[in-house]
Amino acid sequence: MSKINDIAVIGAGLMGHGIAQIFAANGYQVSLFDLEEPILSKALEGIRSNLTLMAGKGIGHTDDIEQILSRIRTTVDLQDAVAGVQFVVEAVIEDLGVKQQLFQKIDGLCPPESILATNTSVISITEIAQNAQNRERILGTHFWNPPYLVPLVEVVRGQDTADKTMDTTYELLKSVGKHPVRVKKDVPGFVGNRLQHALWREAISIVEKGIADPAMVDECVKFGFGLRLPVLGPLENADMVGLDLTLAIHDYILKHLEDSPESSELLRQKVEKSELGFKTGKGFQEWPEKRADDLRKNLLNYLLEVTKTSS
Ligand code: NAI
Repeated sequence: MSKINDIAVIGAGLMGHGIAQIFAANGYQVSLFDLEEPILSKALEGIRSNLTLMAGKGIGHTDDIEQILSRIRTTVDLQDAVAGVQFVVEAVIEDLGVKQQLFQKIDGLCPPESILATNTSVISITEIAQNAQNRERILGTHFWNPPYLVPLVEVVRGQDTADKTMDTTYELLKSVGKHPVRVKKDVPGFVGNRLQHALWREAISIVEKGIADPAMVDECVKFGFGLRLPVLGPLENADMVGLDLTLAIHDYILKHLEDSPESSELLRQKVEKSELGFKTGKGFQEWPEKRADDLRKNLLNYLLEVTKTSS
């Protein structure tokens, strides 16, 4: 594969604009595609605002912002977006049919040696690649929101992905300051979302069974074991307390935990009542605009502080 200089990001929404920002901030030429011009203008404004916020916290410099933005070329022409690039990241809506069609198209448009990555959250890479000819160059790169602040990227191997595709992608992500990890099998949800949604299923079930209210469930995480998580993963924790104790706990507790393969009825009812969370002002809790906004800001500030400390 030739050296990577040019990168295309397909889809300029919440994830796509942040992914474009990462590569542009690290010196790559980026072409950013979406269906309509206004989405692209909004994406550029979003990137400017992210970089300004970061510079305000001492991460990067205000003087570099225009230069970073000048490395991003926007286009509504897919062929133009991917022409001559060595790496493509797809970040369009989470819809298997849309992604399959797009990969078939991009595979036909891109130089044969370029790598094609999908940012799908949970869909099988093998299925997304199924209509493309050159499936060995297709893989998953699962960034986490906001991608310019959260280091993890799951690099996911599809059934036909070549070793070289995995290795080159891993190195590319490392070179732009991300923390890539290799997922060996193409399973739904990869690793991060399997862990995350196992916790969410239990959290919702605890509320549904009347054991605790939603705010209290979150307090148990935020003021309890959640505090340890940035330095102590669950398997390190098991090793720390001892696998004999872990086995004794599991022998007793596992049969009492939620294991339903169906989404919770409480969750379904809330969605039916349009209790969708921040976007409708009520979900598991009440979210007047200011309260929702404060929590968003709180999260962003926390992530900025963590990024600053580790950079
Ligand atoms: P989004 O809805 O903010 O952005 C998607 C963009 O794709 C939109 O701008 C839309 O115009 C564009 N798009 C739609 N159909 C298209 C098509 N046929 N061709 C080209 N562009 C099209 O979505 P978001 O949240 O950025 O998600 C994008 C992908 O990233 C999804 O696969 C999602 O599962 C994944 N993801 C999302 C995360 C999140 O927290 N939102 C986290 C990690 C991954």
